[in-house]
Amino acid sequence: MKKRNYLIAGNWKMNGTLGSLREVIELDKALNNPEIELVLCLPATIIHPAVKKVLSTHLRIGAQNCHHHQEGAFTGDVSAKMLKDIGANFVIVGHSERRQAYGETSELVKEKASAVINEGLMTIICVGETEEQKNNSQTEEIVCAQVKKSMPNAANEKNTVIAYEPIWAIGTGKVPSLDDIKKIHGSIRSLLGKIKGEDVSQRMRILYGGSVKPGNAKDIFCLEDVDGALVGGASLKAADLVEIAKYAQVY
Ligand code: PGA
Repeated sequence: MKKRNYLIAGNWKMNGTLGSLREVIELDKALNNPEIELVLCLPATIIHPAVKKVLSTHLRIGAQNCHHHQEGAFTGDVSAKMLKDIGANFVIVGHSERRQAYGETSELVKEKASAVINEGLMTIICVGETEEQKNNSQTEEIVCAQVKKSMPNAANEKNTVIAYEPIWAIGTGKVPSLDDIKKIHGSIRSLLGKIKGEDVSQRMRILYGGSVKPGNAKDIFCLEDVDGALVGGASLKAADLVEIAKYAQVY
């Protein structure tokens, strides 16, 4: 029995203005497979206008980060409560660009994920090793520690998705071997089993991210514990994301 629907999540990062909403409209029109869930995590400035443009039930709009408090004296920050208010359904937390550039720890990522879950939204928790850690054969150790420390107690398959993104594969065109992806996704799944129990672990989605393109998506999506992708660069053009989503069939 099929336990998990594929999720394709686009991450626009700090790209996109109101003019870019034409890509959102194009994507919205192209989606027609109810088995596949697609979310575009947009810059905060265009979330609300994008939400207003989306007509299909298959496309959701999300954010790329949030503060761990609901409100208060945090100049320049945006909370999960505010993102919910403008119609976001998903929030990425712990992206490696934030872990690295802003020193976000797994402990903070856990608080952010909790804030997202408390608002009734879906969180995508990102984990991944550096190139150096990979070369030192530390991938499993690093990634599993991040999953353990970043995941709130309340996390389950209905409110949380894990995205495995090797840092050295992000925006570089480099992708781990299929065997390596399969192995680490399997390790994350068995860790989830230990922390959350077999039922939740079999239903929680684990995405792969890092240089996913129309040309490599099919092979990656065929892997047993891969339930979709977190896509950066290739999500900026609707046509590329539609192409990637086409490969997300139910096996
Ligand atoms: P990429 O980015 O697809 O451009 O490698 C992925 C990500 O950072 O989420």
